[in-house]
Amino acid sequence: MKIGILRELASGERRVSGTPETVKKFLGLGAQVAVEAGAGLAAAIADADYAAMGAVVGDRASTVAGADIILGVQGPDVTSISGAKPGAWIVAGLNPFVERARIDAYAAAGYEALAMEFMPRITRAQSMDILSSQSNLSGYKAVLDAASEYGRSFPMMMTAAGTVSPSKVFIMGVGVAGLQAIATARRLGAQVSATDVRSATKEQIESLGAKAIFVESVAGIEGEGKGGYATEMSEDYQRAQAELVSGHIAKQDIVITTALIPGRPAPRLISDAQIASMKPGSVIVDLAVEQGGNVEGAVPGEVVERHGVRIVGHRNVPSRLAADASALFARNLYNFLSAFWNKDQNAPVLDEEIGNAIRVTQGGRVVNDRLQSTGAMQ
Ligand code: NAI
Repeated sequence: MKIGILRELASGERRVSGTPETVKKFLGLGAQVAVEAGAGLAAAIADADYAAMGAVVGDRASTVAGADIILGVQGPDVTSISGAKPGAWIVAGLNPFVERARIDAYAAAGYEALAMEFMPRITRAQSMDILSSQSNLSGYKAVLDAASEYGRSFPMMMTAAGTVSPSKVFIMGVGVAGLQAIATARRLGAQVSATDVRSATKEQIESLGAKAIFVESVAGIEGEGKGGYATEMSEDYQRAQAELVSGHIAKQDIVITTALIPGRPAPRLISDAQIASMKPGSVIVDLAVEQGGNVEGAVPGEVVERHGVRIVGHRNVPSRLAADASALFARNLYNFLSAFWNKDQNAPVLDEEIGNAIRVTQGGRVVNDRLQSTGAMQ
């Protein structure tokens, strides 16, 4: 059983899918591990650190040659992994809805691709959940990015020269990233409020010491669909939400948006008119910018200014904390593979629930239910 850990080739990707810690653990399971030279450099891991744990460090061709399992943060191009065993597993964040052509190529090449972002949200899979581990760091970093763009302080300061008032931070979307953003902004001393469509988040917001801003006027809407994720809201709800938010946003200094609906474009939460109602110097961070954006005018990969408000649209925010993000991502992959490790076969054997959820190609075909309906994102 040979596991290959690749150097990420996507532009701006600083993370790595294996660390010296997980290399050592895979070796402990009885696997061999090959690491592509330079794989960890951008995440502050030297080749020698992998080698010291017993990995074989070499070029890409030798890393993939004869590999049974290839690990990546993002999906590798199929042409860059020829030489892997027929039917080899590709285990990574494959972004299947967006990178559909690449998934088709894995199928055509006979690989078995496992999309880690399709991991079901069940208790036993929590330690394997890359969306959670990476979103948590994004929520933290979004607050720091906002603070660094903002020309005022977060905490209240009483100085001999007078008092500096605390900033008001509003978090829209209170999933994993939003909760961490609330906690981080609170620790920095800001006055924090937050909103979500899932009513279950109200208590979570309040337990972190923030104010919950919720649509109460539209009855009977829970906002929670399959797997604890949000659903798309009715037009009535969207109107009520826009009204409520308009009044609130005009009084905020910082807004951080994190709202996503799996397989759908991100919901639009802030309009240009709402941006114009904010004070000059305010900052908005749009963590959903790569999924279509929660904020009108946000540009992926850029910080733009509209009506005197800075709108931050960094791409791949977890990669901006590459060392920690890699450590958690690598553990997610190890936790996943080791949980299914069959000692007799010296290989992982998946069960039906998790296997069917995450497997996207097998036996030359695209097999995942979520990818079957033509063109539609589910
Ligand atoms: P996400 O990244 O899909 O979305 C972020 C947040 O945006 C969600 O809270 C969502 O409700 C909210 N949102 C969507 N549309 C909105 C709108 N129009 N206005 C305002 N907010 C909107 O969500 P994430 O972070 O992946 O978490 C989703 C749920 O899954 C949470 O309940 C979380 O606690 C749960 N979860 C469960 C896990 C497990 O049991 N293994 C692991 C991780 C999360």
